[in-house]
Amino acid sequence: MLTSILFLSAIISTAWGCPKHDNYQSHPHLGRRQVRIDVGREPKDWNYDVSADWATIKPEYHLCQSGTHQSPINIAVKELAQHHRPNFEGYKSVSLPGNFFNSQFAPAFTFHHPEHDLNSLPHFTFDDEEVFLIGWHIHAPSEHLIDGRRSRAEIHMVHVTEEDEEAAVIGIRVGVAPPGTPTESAFIKQLGPLIHYNDTSQIEGLQVNVRLAIEEVGGLEEFWTYKGSLTTPPCSEGLRWFVPKQELLVSEAQMVEILAASRFSHRVTQEVWLHDINL
Ligand SMILES: *[C@@H]1O[C@H](CO)[C@@H](O)[C@H](O)[C@H]1NC(C)=O
Ligand SMILES: [Zn+2]
Repeated sequence: MLTSILFLSAIISTAWGCPKHDNYQSHPHLGRRQVRIDVGREPKDWNYDVSADWATIKPEYHLCQSGTHQSPINIAVKELAQHHRPNFEGYKSVSLPGNFFNSQFAPAFTFHHPEHDLNSLPHFTFDDEEVFLIGWHIHAPSEHLIDGRRSRAEIHMVHVTEEDEEAAVIGIRVGVAPPGTPTESAFIKQLGPLIHYNDTSQIEGLQVNVRLAIEEVGGLEEFWTYKGSLTTPPCSEGLRWFVPKQELLVSEAQMVEILAASRFSHRVTQEVWLHDINL
């Protein structure tokens, strides 16, 4: 009885979890065809109205209150990072299939991959680590601030080690291209219509080229980096964050669609403490 309760709660806490997702498999009988399926969703036991107090929900969320390097933060450091430079050779310019859905807050995507085998996924290296992109999701407005300024949205590209431990997140702030420079983001455009936060279905087998997102922020040549955490419960620490200096620019219409598909989804800004920004 106890084990079945524990098992059930493990499923509930990881299904649709953000940023870690476990819906990386397509329905085997459907192959790789693109198909829309209602998968329903498990209710979350947390929300953004009380993001300053997540630790009171259950003991497993204690780091949300007592952690030493929680995310997101305001990056007030003008200098850019010189260390931990990422190498994106393993981010090939190809479209790979995955599941496109809504996290209950904003659009999200997980790549298909064989169980316990991440080698087909886009990957990058920094220091001596190789990390694999399991998926991405959006927050609106942005979670990170740069010198006190918040962007309209932020894309989190979540990477794990070969052992499936969360290890690195790229936090790409999204902004509207200035008037007179009509820019459509090719990364956003390839997704087609975005999935609304009330929609419990997902598109399986959608092909997405994530190299486009990296290129649209200048290849991350200029970035900040720091030691941080998941920005949702259980707020686990020990992740390296990369925040490109350049925003990913979208057209006005694209931004309106991103905001319309999303709910308010930024965690309260955390105090900078043992984050070692750029160190
Ligand atoms: C979303 O769903 C809720 C609950 O069913 C409903 O009250 C609300 O009007 C819906 N919002 C939109 C924008 O469809
Ligand atoms: Zn996130």
